[in-house]
This record gives sequence, C-alpha cells and structure tokens, in this order.
Amino acid sequence: MGSKKSVCCGLSTREVILSLLFILMTAVSVTLITLMATPTPDPTPHPTSGPQHKPYLIGVGRADCTGPPAEVPLMGYANSQQNAAGIHTRLFSRAFIIDDGKKRVVFVTADVGMISQRVRLEVLQALQVKYGDLYGRDNVVLSGTHTHCGLGGYFQYTLFMLSSKGYIKTSVEPLVNGIVKSIDIAHSYMRPGRIYRSRGELGDSSMNRSPHSYMNNPEEERHRYKTNTDKQVVVLKFTDLDGDGIGMLSWFAVHAVSMNYTNLMVSSDNMGYASYLLEQDKNHGELPGQGGFVAGFSSSNLGDVSPNIKGPHCMNTGLPCDYLNSSCPVGGTKMCKAFGPGEDMFESTRIIGENIYKKAKDLYAKATQEVTGFLHSAHQWVNMTDVTVQINDTHTVRTCKPALGHSFAAGTTDGGGDLNFTQGAVEGDPFWDGIRDALVGEPSNETQECHQPKPILFSTGEMNWPLPWHPQIVDVQILTIGSVAVVAIPGEMTTMSGRRMREAVKQELQSEGAFQDVEVVIAGLSNIYTHYITTFEEYQVQRYEGASTIFGPHTLSAYLQKYRGLAKAIAQDKVSELPVGPQPPFFEKGLFNLLAAAPVDRKPENSSFGDVLEQVLPVYRQGDVVSVTFVAGNPRHSGDIRDKTFVTVEIYDNRTNSWDVVYNDASWETRFHWLKGSNRQSNSTVEWHIPPSAPSGSYRIRHFGHYKQMKGLRPVITPYEGTSDVFRVTQSFYYY
Ligand SMILES: *[C@@H]1O[C@H](CO)[C@@H](O)[C@H](O)[C@H]1NC(C)=O
Ligand SMILES: *[C@@H]1O[C@H](CO)[C@@H](O)[C@H](O)[C@H]1NC(C)=O
Ligand SMILES: *[C@@H]1O[C@H](CO)[C@@H](O)[C@H](O)[C@H]1NC(C)=O
Ligand SMILES: *[C@@H]1O[C@H](CO)[C@@H](O)[C@H](O)[C@H]1NC(C)=O
Ligand SMILES: *[C@@H]1O[C@H](CO)[C@@H](O)[C@H](O)[C@H]1NC(C)=O
Ligand SMILES: *[C@@H]1O[C@H](CO)[C@@H](O)[C@H](O)[C@H]1NC(C)=O
Ligand SMILES: *[C@@H]1O[C@H](CO)[C@@H](O)[C@H](O)[C@H]1NC(C)=O
Ligand SMILES: *[C@@H]1O[C@H](CO)[C@@H](O)[C@H](O)[C@H]1NC(C)=O
Ligand SMILES: *[C@@H]1O[C@H](CO)[C@@H](O)[C@H](O)[C@H]1NC(C)=O
Repeated sequence: MGSKKSVCCGLSTREVILSLLFILMTAVSVTLITLMATPTPDPTPHPTSGPQHKPYLIGVGRADCTGPPAEVPLMGYANSQQNAAGIHTRLFSRAFIIDDGKKRVVFVTADVGMISQRVRLEVLQALQVKYGDLYGRDNVVLSGTHTHCGLGGYFQYTLFMLSSKGYIKTSVEPLVNGIVKSIDIAHSYMRPGRIYRSRGELGDSSMNRSPHSYMNNPEEERHRYKTNTDKQVVVLKFTDLDGDGIGMLSWFAVHAVSMNYTNLMVSSDNMGYASYLLEQDKNHGELPGQGGFVAGFSSSNLGDVSPNIKGPHCMNTGLPCDYLNSSCPVGGTKMCKAFGPGEDMFESTRIIGENIYKKAKDLYAKATQEVTGFLHSAHQWVNMTDVTVQINDTHTVRTCKPALGHSFAAGTTDGGGDLNFTQGAVEGDPFWDGIRDALVGEPSNETQECHQPKPILFSTGEMNWPLPWHPQIVDVQILTIGSVAVVAIPGEMTTMSGRRMREAVKQELQSEGAFQDVEVVIAGLSNIYTHYITTFEEYQVQRYEGASTIFGPHTLSAYLQKYRGLAKAIAQDKVSELPVGPQPPFFEKGLFNLLAAAPVDRKPENSSFGDVLEQVLPVYRQGDVVSVTFVAGNPRHSGDIRDKTFVTVEIYDNRTNSWDVVYNDASWETRFHWLKGSNRQSNSTVEWHIPPSAPSGSYRIRHFGHYKQMKGLRPVITPYEGTSDVFRVTQSFYYY
C-alpha cells in the first residue's frame, strides 16, 4: 500500500522504479487563437418563427489553449514514446454561456483528452477571482473532446502524473488560461439570442470496439436498439435576434483516436477537425481560431466506440483478431490494431471529422425547434468509494475503492499495451502480480472481493504515495436549458451505460410534469477523469473498459442513483436543497514534475537559428507537399505560445507588393515537425500540403521560434525566424 515514507527533494529509487514500471505497464486508451472579431452574419435562413418566446442572453467564445508542443507527453495512449514534437492542429477551448434572466449556465468543450479535477479547480479559482460567485462549481461544466494528441501533465493524482511526466506547470497554465479566456470572451459577448435544437443519425463513422462486452447486456435491452453504438448527433443552434447564427454545439459518441500513437504532433483529431471545418465555413476563410462563429463538437458516451471503422486486424498477418480477447495468434495483443476508414491516420481523421462536420452542418441548417424555458443546474461532489445502492427490494450493493484490472494494461484495439496483457482477463497473472506485490503492494482482500470478477492489477485506492493514485471525490452535474438536459459525466460511459443514464434522467425530469419532450445528452470526459463506466453486465467480461471501471461492478448503478437525484431536484425545483457533498482536495504538496527543464540549444557550425537546411523546390502543383527544414530551437523556449504561430504560409500580392498569411500552424494543411537531434541540435521541418483550392502564385514559408543560450551564468532566450526561398504554385506541370 502507499508507503508512509515522507516525500522529499528529488526522486527516490522507489519513485523511479514506480514510474518505470508504470510507463511500461500502462496502456490507457482512452484540444486553442482568438482574436474575437464581431461575428460575421450567417447566411442560413431564419428558422420559421412560431410564437415568439422570451430570448435568452447568449455568449460564445473560443480561445487557444495549446501548451508547449515539445517533450510533454501526449495524453491518451499512455505511450511513453509519444511525446509532443510539433503541431498538426492547435487546441482550442470553446465556451457557451446562456442566461435566462435569473440563472446562468456555462458549457465548455476543450480539445483535450479529458478535464482533470485539478484543471477544473484551477479554472473555478480563476473565475472566482474575476467574477465572484457568477461562475462556480454548480453552473460551469468543462468537457474534453478526448483527443489523444493533446498535451498531458495537468493532473494531481499519482497514476495520471506518472503517465504524463508529472504535474507540468507550463502545460497546466495554457490549458487553464485558455479555458478561462474562452469564458471571458463568451462573457463579454452576452447578448439576446435564440437556441434551436435538432438531432439526426450519422453512420459509417463509428463502431463498437468491445462487442463481446456489449453482447453481455440483457437481450431484451439490446433488442430495443438497432446498433451497438449510438449514432445520434444532437445539435444546438445559437442565433442572435435577427436569426443570424453565432454558434453551434453538438454531441456525438466516438473516440477521438483517428490519430494513432505513432503521431507526435499536437492534434485536435477528428472532433477538432469537425470544429475547424464548420468554423472555417461560417467565418468565411479567416485563419483558424479567428472569426466570431464558434462550433463546439463535444464528446459523449464514447467508452466502447472507435472511429477506426475498418476494424481490428493483426498487423502482421492481416487476419482478424480474436473476438473475445483481441489477441493475435502471432504477436499477441500488440499486433491487434484497428484502422480506417482512410489509408493513413491523417486521411482517417479527415474522413471521420468531415462526416461529423457535414452531419452537424446539415442539422444546424434544419434546426427549427426552439429551445425555451428556464435554466437549471445541479451539482454535487460524491465520495464514489462509499455509495450504497438499493438494487431491488432485498439487496443493496456498494461501490469500491478505486482499482484497475489486468485488462487495463492490455489497452484497446485503438492503441494497445506493450506487454503481454490480454483483454477479457478474469484471472490474474502470477508473474505481474508478483512484481506488483513487490513494488506497490498487494490489494487488500476487501478490495479484491469488492471488485469481483476483476483481477486487480493496481489497487489504486490503497496507493497513496506520494499522493493518492486515484480520486475518491467525484463531480456529478446536470445542466438544463429549457428541455435540453446536459449530463456531465466524469469519465467515459459505454454505449449502453449512456443509454441507461439518458433514460433515467429523462424519466426523472419528466416525472413531475414540468418537463416535456426532453432531449438528454451525455457530455463525456467532464470535470474530472475516472476512466470508464460500463454496465454491470459488461463489467463481467473484463475487457479494457470493464477493467478500467474503477469503482467496481456497481459504478453505473451508483451514478444512476446520483444523477436521478440531481434530475429529481431540478424537476421539483429543489436544487438548493441538494447537499454539496465533500469538497475534493487541492494538493499543494506532493505534486511532482518529471520533465527536466529544456536545455540550451546548439546549432550546426557557421549557421544561425532559422537558417534553411533543406530548401523548397522552385515549383509545385496543387496537391503537392512543400517541405522546408530550418535550424531550430526547442519550442519549449517559446513560453506561452497561445495566439501565436510557429509557421506561416504566405502568398505574394503583386498589387500591394506584400506578403499575405494564408495558413498558420493551426491550419489542417500545415504540419510543423520538431526533430530533436543529439548534442542539443534540432530542426523544424514545415510541411504545407497544398490544397486543390490554393490559387496559383508565388509563396514562401516562414518559421518562428526561440532558442536558449548561456550568457555567462545566465540563460538567455532569443527569438529567431527563418524564411524559405520563394516558390511558385502553378496548375501547369511544365513551368517553363
Ligand atoms: C485468446 O482467446 C483464444 C481463444 O478464443 C485463445 O486461443 C488465446 O490463447 C487467447 N489469447 C490470450 C493471450 O489469452
Ligand atoms: C498509425 O498510422 C500510420 C499511418 O498513418 C500507420 O503506418 C501505422 O501503422 C499506424 N500505427 C498503429 C499502431 O496503428
Ligand atoms: C470516502 O469514504 C470512505 C469510506 O467511508 C472514507 O474512508 C474516506 O475517508 C472518504 N473520503 C473522503 C475524501 O472523504
Ligand atoms: C435482488 O438482486 C440480487 C442480486 O442481483 C438477486 O440475487 C435477487 O434475486 C434479487 N431479488 C429480487 C427480489 O429480485
Ligand atoms: C507474460 O510474460 C511473463 C514473463 O515472460 C510470463 O511469466 C507470463 O506467464 C506471461 N503471461 C501471459 C498471460 O502470457
Ligand atoms: C486475505 O485473506 C487470506 C485468507 O483469509 C489471508 O491469508 C491473506 O493474508 C489476506 N490477504 C490480505 C492482503 O489481507
Ligand atoms: C566555418 O567558417 C570558417 C570561416 O569561414 C571556416 O574556416 C570553416 O571551415 C567553416 N566550418 C564549416 C563546418 O563549414
Ligand atoms: C537536420 O537537418 C540536417 C540537414 O538535412 C540533417 O543532417 C540533420 O540530421 C537533421 N537533424 C535532425 C535532428 O533531424
Ligand atoms: C500578378 O499576379 C497575377 C496572379 O498570379 C498574375 O496573373 C498577374 O500577371 C501578376 N501581375 C504582375 C504585374 O506581375
């Protein structure tokens, strides 16, 4: 169990062993520039106006929340090799504030793996300082899109600190400040407007990655649904009083894992790309991150939902993986990976992102059902290790102290573990159990019993050194906007868990007659991360999702009870009577940072930072890839990079004799790779994937950065820039 050894200065051997062990063993499967211009009117026709309802006050805002794109682990796959080395697309936080004249609610969706308790607490503290009690624990929901290529290092519980090199202040600050800034922008925007809702279905963009677990749900229940993942896309359209669109918020259940763990560039993945496309559309070609229209694509009950729709195959033989345990005859779990629909991960990201964007855009255009009525918000802190649920007249069940099962270390077909763990394990492995017992201690009998049939790998609820490995106090929260209920879930619910939750909340809300025709949406990865939430039946199979249901087999039952309580309180207008619950800890001591400070930069002899090492060609055609390599500094020396860019693609305007920026590092078409070499030299390679729509003309690529050098004993950080030769983009292959 957690050692009582006091924490002091530096890393002990034990800590090093722990982190090594952890980095080896984990396989967790699991995204921001705003120069707020006045919103450009949206040309879609006015929704047919029925009786005029009282408008809401509405504010929308977007802000860059990208942290240092180098050496910080990317959060999601828990792959120790996957540390940031450049930017594919930037990460943004998107905030939506609604006010009915008496009550105000805030929903934020940020391009990150998940919101952590630490980030939420830091955001709430900052909001308290700026706005007093206007924005607080009860009326602010923060949700992550679940990109696995966002930056990590923003957690306060040991397990997550170990898998993302600790609590990294330079990573936490841009995330917290970006989220707060998106709320600031939405706050300053507040004006009368209307909301419309619509829903539709999206096929060919998601599949169940644990069908074996899903099949363990009762047959009668399964028969109520056509598909083993939820296909619905729910859209809220925000307009001003003239009917001009100002923003869109949608929910769809799919993992943002189209980019796989071999990608090292910060990326907002498929969901981020959907936001990117709709914002580019509505903001009429402004640079990404600019323009007033804000399009949020929020995560939902995506626990068992993969975007890699060609499904899992053995990478070595091409054969399907074992249905039950996702293992390959040769090479085991490591060889089993899910791919598609594209030829590579970029194309897959593009296809899934475009599918989601097109569906949402269509639903947005068709949204005519106005959302009216009061706003409510209900929130509680719950000690999830200590919930008793009456499941029938005679039986009560309990939640457990957190623990992860063996199949957690197996990972998923979207990105597996490195070791010989296999999904679906209901028996331990003496080899790994032995190592675990020796290093971190044996799980107590009570915990083993409580989690049956999960073979416990890490009894995280009994590991408290240097800080608890997992949280006990968890946020449960519901916002209602008229007849739309947003259920903020502190983790990843599987398809069926989400269905049960939506049904329970709808039933409670409608039970008192105050609510009709309620649309319940699951907002996943909200407020705090507690891994997965499967149904009791899925849990029995102990695939990755079941093994990662940390509060035991009755986790979902406990949440259903708690969220029913919140919904009932809203329906009865008795939210003020809900107990607040035990406050979560905000650790001041014991946080550790395993990421050493970035060293000084060196450059090749007789060169300068920003010099071109590999030059562009003189001529390209649309569809080609331009590439240029510069002598670079470590991007971590660029400090807070929000609202800046490492890259510009510029076109020469021969009427004004000036260069106009047409793409930056947030653009889908650009890729900024940072390549770290030996002896502290590094390169930046910038690629521009020339779209077919690019006008012919003269272009250049520029790169901006900073390098660190010692001046005597003082480190000095100096900006540099580099510019490629001018090249032409032309339709004709033969230039001359
Ligand atoms: C996975 O299941 C198959 C049978 O379905 C079995 O032959 C194989 O040994 C299992 N692999 C592992 C690693 O447990
Ligand atoms: C990741 O995607 C690339 C293609 O973009 C592919 O070559 C590679 O095999 C994939 N790796 C895994 C582990 O899925
Ligand atoms: C949660 O409940 C358990 C069991 O009652 C208790 O031991 C623990 O102290 C509680 N945790 C907190 C943070 O209050
Ligand atoms: C209550 O649930 C328990 C545990 O699932 C079960 O064994 C028992 O039969 C149930 N009792 C009734 C009356 O349904
Ligand atoms: C995993 O590898 C270890 C060491 O090689 C071995 O002892 C153990 O039996 C293996 N476990 C499984 C399930 O194959
Ligand atoms: C669990 O129970 C067994 C048998 O009752 C006992 O021998 C063992 O020491 C217990 N283990 C722990 C960790 O308490
Ligand atoms: C660097 O420049 C000096 C002076 O011009 C020259 O003597 C030396 O050979 C150059 N070194 C390299 C590696 O080009
Ligand atoms: C940087 O580019 C130069 C010139 O192409 C190459 O020799 C060197 O290996 C590159 N360094 C890294 C770290 O990629
Ligand atoms: C300016 O650029 C346009 C588009 O490339 C070209 O058609 C035109 O001839 C150019 N004018 C001059 C004066 O170069």
